[in-house]
Amino acid sequence: MNDVRPDAVIILAAGEGTRMKSTLPKVLHPIGGAPLLGHAMRAAAGAGASETVVVIRHQRDRVADFIAAYGERWQIPCRTADQDEVKGTGRAVECGLEALPADLTGTIVVTMGDVPLLSAETISELTRAHTQAQAAVTVVTSVLEDAKAYGRIVRDAAGNVERIVEFKDASEGEREIREINSGIYAFDAAVLRRELANVTTDNAQGEKYLTDVLELARAAGGTVAAHVLDDLWQTEGVNDRVQLAGLGKVLNQRVLERHMRAGVTIVDPDSTWIDVDVTIGQDTRILPGTQLLGATTIGAEATIGPDVTLTDCEVGDGAEVKRAEGHLAVVGAGATVGPFSYLRPGTELGAKGKIGGFVETKNAKIGDGAKVPHLTYAGDAIIGEGANIGAGTIFANYDGVNKHQTVIGKHSFVGSDTVLVAPVEVADGAYVAAGSALTDAVGPGQLGIARGRQRNIDGWVAAHRAGTPTEAAARAAATPPSSATPDSSEDSQ
Ligand code: UD1
Ligand code: CA
Repeated sequence: MNDVRPDAVIILAAGEGTRMKSTLPKVLHPIGGAPLLGHAMRAAAGAGASETVVVIRHQRDRVADFIAAYGERWQIPCRTADQDEVKGTGRAVECGLEALPADLTGTIVVTMGDVPLLSAETISELTRAHTQAQAAVTVVTSVLEDAKAYGRIVRDAAGNVERIVEFKDASEGEREIREINSGIYAFDAAVLRRELANVTTDNAQGEKYLTDVLELARAAGGTVAAHVLDDLWQTEGVNDRVQLAGLGKVLNQRVLERHMRAGVTIVDPDSTWIDVDVTIGQDTRILPGTQLLGATTIGAEATIGPDVTLTDCEVGDGAEVKRAEGHLAVVGAGATVGPFSYLRPGTELGAKGKIGGFVETKNAKIGDGAKVPHLTYAGDAIIGEGANIGAGTIFANYDGVNKHQTVIGKHSFVGSDTVLVAPVEVADGAYVAAGSALTDAVGPGQLGIARGRQRNIDGWVAAHRAGTPTEAAARAAATPPSSATPDSSEDSQ
């Protein structure tokens, strides 16, 4: 028998969470890029639980859909169990047990869907302590300055755990106790099944209390142990949005510290937010105001920030991204992005490429060393390696009904202020003249010019703007310097 892996984890998530004041079920509110319940499911999986079951009731379909999708994505085989109208944590666990194999033996850990910082390591340590003590029940406890409305741990004269008394049922003396029930436990499966059947609803709240199992197990001769946890955040639950923000901040700090210990520089942890699944290579520098979200991956020796938000992006080694927003975009090794760039889905910037200031890209494959440096929209574009796109170029990809593609060949050069009316193709090694509105293909080695030829009309200002400063300036400019007036010679001193 493995003494670290629980045989099953039951996650309680049937409660209503009314204090969130939300149409979204409480356990689906995210921190660090994952819903609260996702954190609980991953902790269970990380501890190597053979079986995981989530007990649901409030908004059950929505929560069940999430469990199925999230379990599939992270390969967490997870059952769901419906709690009936009998209330209480004891009833919830009973319903969870019904979803597990009837012959399941060993250690069952009970956790909660709204306690996101509980780690897989803590579940493992709890399971090990429980197994080594050959306990019937081991409850995770903490000693708090202010024990609030938590259930209190009542110990006997010898210091052994006797029972848990709920705050609402506690005497004044019991309310003085500062050791509290975190609501996380390891149970011997047989004891749990047997004693839950003996739990009544005879208490202040008329609920079936899971906590009653401890006293019953002890009365039946079992050992009831406590696993005292110093890291209070790990057992802190979310009841409202103030706690959601507080736990989100602590989770973020923990994620940042993990990256810093692994060799990532984070200049200002207070203004940096990194989701739990983001990966960052060694010696990368994260500058203030940066958010790295979703499944973003950053290579080594890159510089990200200041003021960068990347969601589900991939950034290569040595790349630099500053003051930019990106979503589902790829930035190649050694490439530079920003400042003030907007990389939309399907952007793929090649190695050592450049996306510069005030540039928006979408579904744009930009080759190695290619540059889109200034004031450009590149949508539905393929830009060959080494090509250069001049300032103010617009890839006009949308005709009002359909989107079309533009191809710019390798090492080609598009002059400034060009409109590329898609679909259109510029071959490898071609030029497009500045100010063109290109509608037709340009072949290899050609210069494409698509604009009106310039005409200069003599005397137009004198004829149409007589008496204006413009006309005076024109006259002065047209007068030869040899016949300069005293006024204009003063000007030239
Ligand atoms: C419970 C404990 C209390 C402990 C506290 C820690 C009991 C009787 N009391 O308090 O000693 O200090 O947790 O937070 O167990 N849930 C269900 N179905 C239910 C009721 C609750 O699934 O019928 C779930 C909730 O969604 C939540 C968890 O169980 O995730 C705890 O419920 P909550 O009402 O917050 O805890 P209490 O019962 O007040
Ligand atoms: Ca609670």
